[in-house]
Amino acid sequence: MFVKRIRNSTILLAFISVVVAAPFTGYAESLNQAVESGKHLFMTANFNGNGRTCNSCHMAGGTTAGKLPDGSPIPSLNNAAAVFPRYNRRQDKVITLLDQVHNCVAGALQGTPPAYDSAEMVDLISYLSSLSQGKPLNMGGKPE
Ligand code: HEC
Repeated sequence: MFVKRIRNSTILLAFISVVVAAPFTGYAESLNQAVESGKHLFMTANFNGNGRTCNSCHMAGGTTAGKLPDGSPIPSLNNAAAVFPRYNRRQDKVITLLDQVHNCVAGALQGTPPAYDSAEMVDLISYLSSLSQGKPLNMGGKPE
């Protein structure tokens, strides 16, 4: 009886230490992987919202001019990562690219924004940054 209890708790301890030693984080292990995963999220994820994805408005993965549901045009995301941080008039404060992604998930998708330090946010930022690769940093600049 006593021996059995010791054996059970040993097994339990071993199990716990394996789980603690190898937590699943979901973080990409290469930049390419992060960009690809971010692109996949951009095209398919609705973040438990109204069913829209990023690509519903920022078409062709954000590489061409986009369109709002009412048909009005919005700029591409080709230099988006190069124009932040930027003053946002509506919020009356300077926001980062992460804030903008947060705003679009919460507002446009009516979804639950990924935490700032989550794998999803890292991947989305990696994808958006890949679109601006080679563009000069132009903080506060206009979207193209
Ligand atoms: C319903 C349409 C819509 C959807 C869906 C949408 N956005 Fe946006 N997005 C906008 C609008 C409108 C703007 C520009 C105005 C603003 O909010 O500042 C914008 C701006 C942006 C910008 C800044 C562009 C720039 O150069 O200034 C980024 C980056 C962005 N969105 C990313 C995303 C991501 C990532 C998603 C998906 C999680 C997404 N958006 C989903 C409408 C949308």
